[in-house]
Amino acid sequence: MSAALIDGKAVAASLRERIADDVADFAASAGRVPGLAVVLVGDDAASAVYVRNKAAACAAAGIAGHEHRLPADTSEEALLAVVLGLNADPSVDGILVQLPLPPQIDASRILAAISADKDVDGFHATNAGRLATGLPGFVPCTPLGCLHLIRSVGPDLRGAEAVVIGRSNIVGKPMAALLLGADCTVTIAHSRTRDLPEVARRADILVAAVGRPEMVRGDWVKPGAIVIDVGINRIASTPGRTKLVGDVHFAEASAVARAITPVPGGVGPMTIAMLLANTLEAARRHAG
Ligand code: GUN
Repeated sequence: MSAALIDGKAVAASLRERIADDVADFAASAGRVPGLAVVLVGDDAASAVYVRNKAAACAAAGIAGHEHRLPADTSEEALLAVVLGLNADPSVDGILVQLPLPPQIDASRILAAISADKDVDGFHATNAGRLATGLPGFVPCTPLGCLHLIRSVGPDLRGAEAVVIGRSNIVGKPMAALLLGADCTVTIAHSRTRDLPEVARRADILVAAVGRPEMVRGDWVKPGAIVIDVGINRIASTPGRTKLVGDVHFAEASAVARAITPVPGGVGPMTIAMLLANTLEAARRHAG
């Protein structure tokens, strides 16, 4: 391995310390703590773990976490009513509805109902449009965390070739917008891209967010590139055991790249840190 390891866990820990200090300052001047409402519908096991981690991170940062657990058979109207109640609640600065939602609920209708100034996930079309047009707004936490990690090893991104593999609204598209905002030359690649390895090899900054275990091989990586692996995939390892791997073949890519994020311990911890940062920002805006 020649690449430097980008330690997301350490970067996130130091960010979270700083956010906790800033939350204390905010509370002292505003006379209240920031509040984040997290809504979980149903009993998806992975979602339950994410929500528990988010609640614990809020508590550690001094942010009030309001958890709303609703049964799997909750109707769209009932969830909508919960969201509208949170929109109107002045103790709630940020609202996060954990995805995925059960099939009877149209997620896009729910996300559209969240007040854009409480949309700390950055999923509302108003915030997506703000990001796309370079206006201030809330940026989705995972790509925001990725940019932070990229800047930790490559502060000047001007003119760099960036390739984002994946075009989701949650990661790929906002990641591309952020890199464009940092003056990179950006390509968004995806499952239909012709000769994906060749496109990936152009990248000084390669972000993989496709959800395909170890798809990005060593010979897809330009020597000296910064590689950010957003994937979290559980695969079989030794008989009867599983392990987590990213979308990048770590052993191969780390022999070629200049710097690379591990899985786990890379991008994952940054997402929660950015959620706390967005919630504090929402509270500051609400305090005027
Ligand atoms: N499900 C998986 N990741 C996320 C996230 O960042 N936000 C929400 N709301 N749901 C998710």
